Amino acid sequence: MIIAIDGPSGAGKSTVAKAVARELGFSCLDTGAMYRAVAWRASEDGISFEDDAALGELARTYDIDFKHEEGDPLPRRVLIGGVDVTDAIRTAEIDRAVSPVSAAPSVRAALVDQQRRIGRAGDYVVEGRDIGTTVFPEAEVKVFLTASAEERAHRRVRQNVDRGVGSIDYDEVLADIRRRDDYDSSRATSPLRPADDAVQLDSTGHYIEEIIREIVSLACAKGAAPESEDAQ
Ligand code: DC
Repeated sequence: MIIAIDGPSGAGKSTVAKAVARELGFSCLDTGAMYRAVAWRASEDGISFEDDAALGELARTYDIDFKHEEGDPLPRRVLIGGVDVTDAIRTAEIDRAVSPVSAAPSVRAALVDQQRRIGRAGDYVVEGRDIGTTVFPEAEVKVFLTASAEERAHRRVRQNVDRGVGSIDYDEVLADIRRRDDYDSSRATSPLRPADDAVQLDSTGHYIEEIIREIVSLACAKGAAPESEDAQ
């Protein structure tokens, strides 16, 4: 089964995707991390973010892998070409680079192929922007998760403080979120928009646990079975 969770940056997709995966015994795939990894490699190699052909070549050449830490059923480490970039892809520089890189049609084609290959191998919660519309239009459960830009900026600042990477300046983070919303929604290839059959959930002012419960029950209605306490 595929559970697609799409929505803008900072809506809580990662937290929700991991929790839902844990409850249902699914794996999860963070497609944003894949675009970030390609943006990191491109910036290391000095490739222009406007050069669609070179970016596509790069996305096809380097393998992106997700690795588990010991005792954790969910993958947390991201590697590109064997280099662990888990922390390096969360900087303000990559926040900026990833918009043009993820808008490159040849990068999208290469990564969508990889995402389909990974997701079809089992039960997955897949989070991104175009999962319900383009990558897995046949997904059994589709959720479009949103929250106000202000709430998302507050969450991103807290997350950056916890991680010790990225900007912790609220106004800067809010401006970046607004810039990325505009960019992601207006690009020509796979713009950010809810699938016609997606359930739209707004996490502003809601406990994230309510959202998690709602998605788990949507999945159960489609035949998923929650893991028992002892099975975890
Ligand atoms: O979810 P995130 O903020 O880590 O995503 C990073 C960037 O990648 C974001 O600017 C949008 C883009 N992205 C995309 O275009 N398609 C996806 N399926 C996932 C992310």
